[in-house]
Amino acid sequence: MTLDTQKLRAHFPMTSEWNYVNHATHGPFPTQTSEAISNLAHAWTSPADLDHDENDRTANAVRQMIARTINGKPENIAFTGSLAESMSLAAAGLDWKPGDNCVIPEHEFPSVVYPFLNLERRGVTVRFAPKDDAGFTSVDRIRETADERTRAIVVSHVEFMNGFRNDLAALTQLAHDLDAVLISDVTQSLGPCEIDVANSGVDVVGAHSYKWLMASYGVGVTYLSDRAIERVEPTYAGRLSVDLGFEDLSYQLNFRPGAARYQSGGLNWITLTGLRASLELITSMNPADIASHTVALTERLLDGVEARGYQISSSREAERRSAIVAFTTGNQEEDAALVSDLGAKKISVAHRGLGIRVSPYFYNTADDIDQLIAALPRRS
Ligand SMILES: Cc1ncc(COP(=O)(O)O)c(C=O)c1O
Repeated sequence: MTLDTQKLRAHFPMTSEWNYVNHATHGPFPTQTSEAISNLAHAWTSPADLDHDENDRTANAVRQMIARTINGKPENIAFTGSLAESMSLAAAGLDWKPGDNCVIPEHEFPSVVYPFLNLERRGVTVRFAPKDDAGFTSVDRIRETADERTRAIVVSHVEFMNGFRNDLAALTQLAHDLDAVLISDVTQSLGPCEIDVANSGVDVVGAHSYKWLMASYGVGVTYLSDRAIERVEPTYAGRLSVDLGFEDLSYQLNFRPGAARYQSGGLNWITLTGLRASLELITSMNPADIASHTVALTERLLDGVEARGYQISSSREAERRSAIVAFTTGNQEEDAALVSDLGAKKISVAHRGLGIRVSPYFYNTADDIDQLIAALPRRS
């Protein structure tokens, strides 16, 4: 099915001013999201009038929608404060022995890497798997870097610089063959790409809320499989980690079943409210339709920029594509200048290490892409 972009654009009034194709940096609020947050912000001016159970209801509604989107169970979903915290809870909670290692592809996003470097004081080594000859992450190179002491393989599902989409099912198989876990950052894929945790068997996925989930900062959506929950000990605790209410001072530290045990103190009600409203819009569409729409737009862009003489930094293999692509003049300074020129023309893209990064979403159109291509000076 094709998406009704005309109708979808009505949720984003800025589209009358901006050609916004920069969701890998920040996701805009749909109008219903800014309204929901404004209403809650207003309600907080009088806490006595607030319905405090609404925080739990909101968290549960978000859990249900995320679970449906990734084909997982709501009880396997916990909320942290960021992607770094989601990675950290998995990294710190595994039963590492001195001499164990984890394997991460080189050039990963820092919040994916630091939680594991932080294990070095526990005798754990981080091994960086080299890219293949074309410069992309490779399952074979990860396999060659791992050994029988590998306890975790850690990758972004979609990489932040050029949108390379890793094969979570193949990497999970590799991890499980080593009796290790597969941990994945899905910040750049939850929303625009299809994710199936049940069929891929992936152990842990985490995403921050401020990009494709369109809900600003402060919620790290975290899924742990039953297998991961058995292996990941809670490393911090608080009133939400147990079933007792906060008036019970018996201090029985019996962790709650499922992923709820990893939550500690009060949740970020405001961002969860935004997330709920945005997910209502995102989940009103079929994930496969969003994925094919964004891939068609990025394909159009790559054809257009190639014809204008730019180099492509993304893989053109269909299976490795996502809603993010990057291209370059071959010169970092020229790329940066172009991004700023485009910004002056109200076309929002980003400059990252592999060039100019473009990341359209469900409400962007072929016209947005054509306008961007037309704004680029010809190089050949
Ligand atoms: C791949 C990826 N993961 C995570 C994040 C955000 O990380 P954090 O939640 O630690 O701020 C970003 C932000 O650019 C990202 O590109």
